Amino acid sequence: MNSNIFEQEKKLFLPTYNRIPLEISHGKGVYLYDKNGNKYLDFFAGLAVNALGYAHPKIVEAISGQIAKFGHISNSFITDVQVELAELLIKYSGMSKVFFSNSGTEAVEAALKIIRKKEGPDKKIFSLTNSFHGRTYGAMSLTARSKYKKGFEPLVPNIYQINFNDVSDLESKIDETTAAVFLEFIQGEGGVNVVSDEFASKLFELRDKYHFAVAADEIQVGIGRTGKPFAFNHFNVKPDLIVAAKAIGGGLPLGALLTSPEFDNVFETGKHGTTFGGNPVSCAGGNVVLHEVFENGVLENVAELGKYFIDELEKLSVKFPEDIKDVRGKGFIIGVELFYPGQIIVQKMLEKKILINCTNQNVLRILPPLIITKDEIDYFLFNLEQTLQTK
Ligand SMILES: Cc1ncc(COP(=O)(O)O)c(C=O)c1O
Repeated sequence: MNSNIFEQEKKLFLPTYNRIPLEISHGKGVYLYDKNGNKYLDFFAGLAVNALGYAHPKIVEAISGQIAKFGHISNSFITDVQVELAELLIKYSGMSKVFFSNSGTEAVEAALKIIRKKEGPDKKIFSLTNSFHGRTYGAMSLTARSKYKKGFEPLVPNIYQINFNDVSDLESKIDETTAAVFLEFIQGEGGVNVVSDEFASKLFELRDKYHFAVAADEIQVGIGRTGKPFAFNHFNVKPDLIVAAKAIGGGLPLGALLTSPEFDNVFETGKHGTTFGGNPVSCAGGNVVLHEVFENGVLENVAELGKYFIDELEKLSVKFPEDIKDVRGKGFIIGVELFYPGQIIVQKMLEKKILINCTNQNVLRILPPLIITKDEIDYFLFNLEQTLQTK
């Protein structure tokens, strides 16, 4: 094998990703280590997957214990770890039933299928402008941002968009022909945009009037990332469907569709399924995440430190009015919108051995592991300030 894996990557892989030029040897807690022994503070957590950081001892124990028993036995069997995770997800989401997939986009596909099956082909399904719901055909058809769809038409029919946070657009488009509205209560890829209280309450008022389904995409923001169990919990509303993924597998692939009682009997046996979905090793990892986040103090950490973090970033925006346009988010999903492309700052932070992500060109997206401490946040803030000063 050629020793330069970056050259090999160019040769071997379809060019779908921009890779960070680090060769990672391992992770521990909130740090990643490269093969040269450098240590990086991770403020994007595998894109919101690694809620408990890297190599969390309880996750290592749970998944190694499970794989030593069986890694896979197919959905012809039900397993204890799947049942435990189903119970936890149902308990903390307030939903009635679950279907496990492998990924976020597949959870969205399951949601689309269950809606179409229940409501028929003619009713309309909506998502919000600037949204991201995944890359398979159904999820991509819901995704509003054209950069993800261009060149892949024709898409799934009868899917339309409502302007983000535009109450009058919402009122003008929703009626008795509506089957569902999909939304991220906090848009992730779209630049960390928070749904307004006014928009959310009008949406649920219309839902009660016309009886369509509200499907909350909690793939990036669920499982405690916003300081509450799910992002919708900030709005005092209850969706009819929830899709979750990312954090729920403890770093392994897993997605979930959670449904309210009206959907209990829509999928009869054989109408939907997957070979790997609900993999027992992923479920074993996910059980640790849900116990730690909801029962062992992690959620409280996010709520408290998330507020502190956002307050401090707002202070920074006052200090750097020519750099920072806006700070927004909840808990540990924070967007810092800049007046210029964020990649410059991402690169400078990387030189300081801190990993952050940039989305939508100019929004620094801050997604630390949920176990991050105040000292680490202060270290991040100090370095971001230095970076803005010297850029
Ligand atoms: C809000 C949202 N929905 C759906 C997806 C798709 O999930 P996956 O990449 O697991 O298919 C993502 C992934 O980033 C997401 O953030």
